Amino acid sequence: MFEGAASGKVILLGEHAVVHGIPALAASIGSGAWASARPTRNTPSLTVQDADRTWVVNPGSELEEAFRKLSNAIGVSADADARIDIPTRAGLGSSACLGVALARAMLALRGNPFTDSDVVDAATSWERVFHGNPSGIDVAVAVFGGCVEFRKGVGITPVALGQPIPLCVGDTGLRSSTRTMVEHVARELAAKADAGRTWLDEIGDCVSRARSALAAAEWTAVGEAMNQNQLLLEQVGLSNPETDALCRAARDTGAVAAKLTGAGGGGCVIALAPGLQREVLLAWQHLGFDGFSVDAGVD
Ligand code: PMV
Repeated sequence: MFEGAASGKVILLGEHAVVHGIPALAASIGSGAWASARPTRNTPSLTVQDADRTWVVNPGSELEEAFRKLSNAIGVSADADARIDIPTRAGLGSSACLGVALARAMLALRGNPFTDSDVVDAATSWERVFHGNPSGIDVAVAVFGGCVEFRKGVGITPVALGQPIPLCVGDTGLRSSTRTMVEHVARELAAKADAGRTWLDEIGDCVSRARSALAAAEWTAVGEAMNQNQLLLEQVGLSNPETDALCRAARDTGAVAAKLTGAGGGGCVIALAPGLQREVLLAWQHLGFDGFSVDAGVD
C-alpha cells in the first residue's frame, strides 16, 4: 500500500482576481486529505470518506471522471481510499488537496522517482474536472504548503512569515460552485469595463500591502488590507447575509479583520484574530456557526 497526504488552504487575499492575473496570497491550514493506493488488475476504484459520510465513487460522476483523468496522467491502475479532514466545497481547497494526496500515493505506487512538478501536473488534471479552468492556486498550496504568493502562469513564491497567522475559519454552512462564481465575476468585470481593471488593481494593491506586513507580523496592516479586499469582493456580489454575519461577529469580538475566503457565495470566512481566536469561535458558535482556529502558513 502506498500513501500520500496534503494540506488544505485559505486564500488570505486575492481570490478571483488571481484568475485574471493578479497575485494572491494563500496559506496552508495543516489538516487536509490523506490517501492510500494499491495496484489492481480490475476496474480501478475510489472510496472517499469525510466527517459526514463515505462516498463510493459511481460511474459517470465527476469524482469518477477526475479519478480516471488522474490515473491516466500517472499511468497506473489503482484501488484507492481517501479521507478528507476539512469541510468540503467550502473554499478550503478540499478537492485540490484530495487530488494531491491521491497523486502522491499513485505516483509512489508507479515506482519511478517523481518531483513536485509531477504532482502538480497530475493533480491539475484532476482539479480541472471540478473547477473548469482553475488558476492553480489550490493545487500549488496543497503541494508546497506554507504561505505563498501565487500568480497564474508563473507559480508560487514562498512568503517568509514573521509568525504563523492566527486565524479563525468559520463555515456559513452554504455551498456554491467555484466554476459558477468564477463565471459570475468574469461577467461582472466585462460589464464594468475600465472599472473592472481598477477593481483588479485595487485588489493587487491590498495583496502587495499584506505581503510586506506578513513578513513582520504587522497584523493591523495585514488586517486593513484584508478588510479592504472584503469590501471589493462584496462589490461584485460574492458575499451574502451569512458571510456578513460571520464577519461582523468576528470584528465585533475584536478580530483585526474578517473576509470570505475562496470562491464566495457561501463557503468559509476567515478572521485574523491574534490573541482572540477562542473568543471569535465562541461568538460564531453563539450564532449557530461552526468554526475552527488555525495558526496558518507553517506546514
Ligand atoms: O475553490 P475555492 O473556493 O478554493 O476558490 C478558488 C479560488 C478562486 O480564485 C475563486 C478560483 C481560482 O481558480 O483561483
